[in-house]
Amino acid sequence: MIYPRVASLKTSEAFRSHLSQSSIELPFDDHVLSGPDSPLARPLQVHGRSIGNRFCILPMEGWDGTEDGKPTDLTRRRWRNFGLSGAKLIWGGEAVAVRRDGRANPNQLLINERNLSEIAELRELLVSAHAEQFDCTDDLMVGIQLTHSGRYARPNDKKKAEPRVPQRNRVLDRRVGVSDDSAVMSDDDISGLVDDFITAAVAAERAGFTFVDIKHCHGYLGHELLAAVDRPGRYGGSFENRTRFLRDIVDGIGAATSGLNIGVRLSVFDFVPYCPGEDRIGIPEPESEANKVFGATLDGEGIDLTEPGRLIELMQEIGIRMVCTTAGSPYYNPHIQRPAFFPPSDGYQPPEDPLAGVARQIAAVAELKQQHPEMTFIGSGYTYLQDYLPQVGQAVVNRGMADSIGLGRMVLSYPELPADVIAGSDWQRKKVCRTFSDCTTAPREGILSGCYPLDPFYKKRPERELLKAAKAKLSNTR
Ligand SMILES: Cc1cc2nc3c(=O)[nH]c(=O)nc-3n(C[C@H](O)[C@H](O)[C@H](O)COP(=O)(O)O)c2cc1C
Ligand code: SF4
Repeated sequence: MIYPRVASLKTSEAFRSHLSQSSIELPFDDHVLSGPDSPLARPLQVHGRSIGNRFCILPMEGWDGTEDGKPTDLTRRRWRNFGLSGAKLIWGGEAVAVRRDGRANPNQLLINERNLSEIAELRELLVSAHAEQFDCTDDLMVGIQLTHSGRYARPNDKKKAEPRVPQRNRVLDRRVGVSDDSAVMSDDDISGLVDDFITAAVAAERAGFTFVDIKHCHGYLGHELLAAVDRPGRYGGSFENRTRFLRDIVDGIGAATSGLNIGVRLSVFDFVPYCPGEDRIGIPEPESEANKVFGATLDGEGIDLTEPGRLIELMQEIGIRMVCTTAGSPYYNPHIQRPAFFPPSDGYQPPEDPLAGVARQIAAVAELKQQHPEMTFIGSGYTYLQDYLPQVGQAVVNRGMADSIGLGRMVLSYPELPADVIAGSDWQRKKVCRTFSDCTTAPREGILSGCYPLDPFYKKRPERELLKAAKAKLSNTR
């Protein structure tokens, strides 16, 4: 595929003209406003609170906790940067496992009694960093993302997958080494996990978080359960059964906490797994089971929002008001989830202009927002827009296509972007994430995550050399 780098599209006109030549539809405001007139500075009302602006920091882990699941200085630095960013909604900080076997890696944070004071301090650090830089913290909303990694659990050894799955899946089983039913969770195990989520939410409330995110995205357990059409028993088959996990957790949290709000990070659509085809360009993996994809058309290669829309209606009925949208999975179709020019080491070359991936997520969220106007929707996947993120973000908010613009990779390289946009400060071009994917490749190679190409702090770290060597070795073996 030939498409230009966004950095080479030097003007708004060039960017728009590329979009129209490529038939990619994205809303775009030529003039980004600053100060109180900025649509991105408009407060957002949810759960009787006022969130101070329309930027949200998406959860991003760093594979940098201690082995017992406590934060380290690197974790604290990331959360502090989130506080300094100027965004007024912090969606979960990062994935935090509710029990040991659900950790995605042996350095993922783990919420339990022993770790709670350090996790509470993370939130306090973020809030105090925000207070140092900005007038007010009353309009800052901070949640924590609760997770079980399911199929992608590696709790004890970075190199050893220890999957816990809701159902067998021909292609994905092969990828994580599931060869019999021993990895399939029983109904009792899932019920026990519901209790673990509730216990974790009670702890999160004590730690001062305003909301918990019950993670249902990216191929992890909650998300895979939504597609568990072949699973017998109480958690599989019908839509009612596949959503029981979420409903039971929400019921339990309602009964056990006093005022804790609940949000859900949801892959609002998904595609079948991809693999490298000719010239390493991604293709849908043959033998994929398209019926086991949540929010996809029958062939698993297009979007069908019927069930996701139904799920959002259900969420509304059970008191959920905030959905942080995302799509697909970083493991089996990263171009859907995290559009990038340079794929991560275990990926494939993008089969499309990554701007098409950005547009796909924006359009799907806009459709859901139109169907469910009372729900608060946070969008994701904007980083690939690079220098044009503010123009598109403002246009999305202005047109009511989403309520808040979520920022992932961009805040690893350019943490103060929200503050700069809202204040109308100079655009810091050198800090703009160019989607090199080192922050994903590093952990795939057993190295802690960080923005090695652009963040001066990570540039100086010894892991940068390890990453270079790992990348060189990989390119020699291809
Ligand atoms: C290093 C890294 C860590 C991430 N960790 C998480 C996580 O803990 N939880 C989660 O839901 N998403 C996680 N994501 C996905 C992001 O939240 C986001 O959806 C994705 O990067 C796309 O948004 P962007 O285009 O702004 O980067 C991570 C992404 C990156 C790059
Ligand atoms: S390593 Fe830095 S520049 Fe590369 S994708 Fe991650 S945040 Fe962006």
